[in-house]
Amino acid sequence: MKIIHTIQELHAELQHQSNIAFVPTMGNLHAGHIHLVELAKQQARCVVVSIFVNPLQFGPGEDLSSYPRTLDADCGKLAAVGADIVFVPSVGELYPDFDSVDLHQSMTVQPSAIALELCGASRAGHFVGVATVVMKLFHIVRPDVAVFGKKDFQQLTILREMVKQFNMNIKIVAGETVREASGLAMSSRNGYFNFAEKVQAVQLYRALSEVVEKVGQGQRDYAELERLAVERLEKQGWQVDYISLRCALTLQPASAADQDLVVLGAAKLAKTRLIDNIEFCAKPLN
Ligand code: PAF
Repeated sequence: MKIIHTIQELHAELQHQSNIAFVPTMGNLHAGHIHLVELAKQQARCVVVSIFVNPLQFGPGEDLSSYPRTLDADCGKLAAVGADIVFVPSVGELYPDFDSVDLHQSMTVQPSAIALELCGASRAGHFVGVATVVMKLFHIVRPDVAVFGKKDFQQLTILREMVKQFNMNIKIVAGETVREASGLAMSSRNGYFNFAEKVQAVQLYRALSEVVEKVGQGQRDYAELERLAVERLEKQGWQVDYISLRCALTLQPASAADQDLVVLGAAKLAKTRLIDNIEFCAKPLN
């Protein structure tokens, strides 16, 4: 496995590769990321994984400076799973004039309106940062296939749309969320919790699961189900950003006629903001 830091070196390494699967990450890799690399290996001969904590997708006061950076451990895991190339650019390599980067003055990718809802409503500019860095990485790596996790369901939807609207010839493959035995979704941010908080953190998944169960029992008052889930989490000490039932294909608010659904949630426990979601099918009512 080669570890590469510059675009020039990467291009030299990839010039004879015609079949590339790409997994963009911000590092601090866990079983969820490793699953994405395994999927990538099924898709192409050469697997490139990027590790880059993208400053453009963090807002003021977010955890950019404390975001865990664990390159040696990450490379060990990637070598074990059989990745071919790890691309680890510096901020200067991807954004040569980063100090002067201002989202309003630099060229960025402006995602469609769905990026302003859900996580986009409270994290202004987040998806502009994600779409911009992924567009840059796609141009640098030139993959045939790119693999993203369903854990970041809104991100996945926006990036699928970006590839479609910009006519990029890249197949997007989605990996299922990997969970701990408790049901807690694997996330780099789980490392911020102490033992007691980590035990409590599964409550977000349980609240989403209860929504799925109630839809399965025939309940179709989605606003009420969302309200009850928020109330349940708040009683347990969470600061809820949103719980929202959406059409899984468009991410528009779910209507009783939609069958492919996703319930998404974002909430803060102690100082850590978690997101999670469950994709499911609502059987038509007779
Ligand atoms: O999901 C992530 O880890 C990041 O948002 C991504 C896609 C690597 C872009 O920085």
